[in-house]
Amino acid sequence: MQTVEKKTWWKEAVIYQIYPRSFADSNGDGIGDLPGITQHLPYLHELGIDVIWLSPVYRSPNDDNGYDISDYRDIMTDFGTMADFDEMLSTAHSLGIKIVMDLVVNHTSDEHAWFIESRKSKDNPFHDYYIWKEPRDGKEPNNWESCFSGSAWELDDATGMYYLHCFSKKQPDLNWENPKVRDEVFDMMTWWCEKGIDGFRMDVISMISKDQRFPDGPDKDGIYGDLNPYVCNGPRVHEYLQEMNRRVLSHYDLLTVGEAAGVTIEEARKYANNEGTELGMVFQFEHMDTLQGEGSVIGKWTTKKPSMSKVRAILNKWQVQLEGKAWNSLYWDNHDQPRVVSRFGDDSEKWRVLSAKMLATCLHMMKGTPYIYQGEELGMTNTVFEGIDQCRDIEELNAYRQYVEEHHLVSGDVMMACINTVGRDNARTPMQWDASANAGFTTGTPWIKVNPNYTTINAEAAMADPDSVFYYYQKLIRLRHAHPVIVYGVFEPLLEENEAVYAYRRVLDGCVLTVACNWTDQPQECTLFDGLSGTELISNYKEHQAGVLAPYEARVLLQEQE
Ligand code: NOJ
Repeated sequence: MQTVEKKTWWKEAVIYQIYPRSFADSNGDGIGDLPGITQHLPYLHELGIDVIWLSPVYRSPNDDNGYDISDYRDIMTDFGTMADFDEMLSTAHSLGIKIVMDLVVNHTSDEHAWFIESRKSKDNPFHDYYIWKEPRDGKEPNNWESCFSGSAWELDDATGMYYLHCFSKKQPDLNWENPKVRDEVFDMMTWWCEKGIDGFRMDVISMISKDQRFPDGPDKDGIYGDLNPYVCNGPRVHEYLQEMNRRVLSHYDLLTVGEAAGVTIEEARKYANNEGTELGMVFQFEHMDTLQGEGSVIGKWTTKKPSMSKVRAILNKWQVQLEGKAWNSLYWDNHDQPRVVSRFGDDSEKWRVLSAKMLATCLHMMKGTPYIYQGEELGMTNTVFEGIDQCRDIEELNAYRQYVEEHHLVSGDVMMACINTVGRDNARTPMQWDASANAGFTTGTPWIKVNPNYTTINAEAAMADPDSVFYYYQKLIRLRHAHPVIVYGVFEPLLEENEAVYAYRRVLDGCVLTVACNWTDQPQECTLFDGLSGTELISNYKEHQAGVLAPYEARVLLQEQE
């Protein structure tokens, strides 16, 4: 099968996500900052990435580490100044690295000037910028649970009304039904585009259009109802994105990726349609969420390891069913997920490097735009938080309070085990630069604990070792840049019944790429390469045994027609 794919730079690019708070601290206050990023751009240039997705750097009181914005046109004090931003942007551009901003417009901070006005009175001109409802029987307007625990509604004294917050109560949801809100958002986006940024990662963009009936949701955890069916992929979301596209995006050459909680294939074909009327691609979450429900203690909280065959079935479905219709994004990690080598691989000393390389191969040879999260290229692992006092993430803190302290649904020990397995703080421990104090992240006291394994797992050590995970990622990136089959080849699943080996083929213009990855710590039979001649593009083993994949072995073979 052959499809003619429209070629664009962002389909051929590899993206690196920076979570600025945890990346590099230049001034010793324990918090990463923009000059810290600028200083380390040569490191990213060496890795070979094309684009940085920068988690939010706007002014924010930091209830949710910058995902609560109080001024979209200013920089968070902890991170520096607009001059620091401009310096980072121009240095990145001079190295050929593009910058994609995080666009958080489902909600603002409650300290944003619009909300401060909005809550003053029912007839304030900004009142309708947010979603206000009268009490129902003296209580919340419906049973929705916020994504960060507790009711999604907060009573405000001045008006006696409730406002909606799908996340923390310091993150009130904007009312996209109001055309003035859309005007403000589109103006702000244009302002950043004129500054010369190269795209937007759009935070929970699938949630901007709410079902205007605001009905109760199905029972979620015996306490609250689920808001997802009424806020994800809502009735006007495609209309809003098409308007955004017409008024802003289509005037620039941008990478756009929508974070799309609850997205289905059918919806993704609209968001990321090949005609380009909405976004370039979306992040889907199905492969991250295989243990939600039956496999979990409660909600997302679990201590279990996902099964490869479930993850594969989901990723293969996305590969096959978007073919020729929409573009995929590819990721294992981000600032909301635990570390991939701990979650899907094996972070023990024996298998960490091999399994990290295997997982990287498995993802980077697929069709779509790959995203690397800071530290993934070092094989950074989850850490152990010994008690809730060591945790910083609002999602973890609120869930602990609700499930352990208020409702006694889960013991403190079990909840900590869950947090150490899937909590977001695992991704947020400081970047491990070297073996000096605090991993070379800061000369001060880090805002969150450093993973103690930094003495062996760090960038300096990786760069001194030709067999490191770092150089393996560098090679994967170079291969993608060199071989159009990796970017545009059609994906064909192989061995779909095999419980241990994830295998597939990519096909383009007479080139065939065969990829096989052993997801276990045992040798596995695999005859896919027997009798095939071609060039081995990459493998995490130097030698191979016929008919067998060694523990966590990954192999990629390219056959080219003369
Ligand atoms: C998704 C972001 O990735 C996450 O970090 C944040 O907490 C929520 N959206 C709310 O903005």
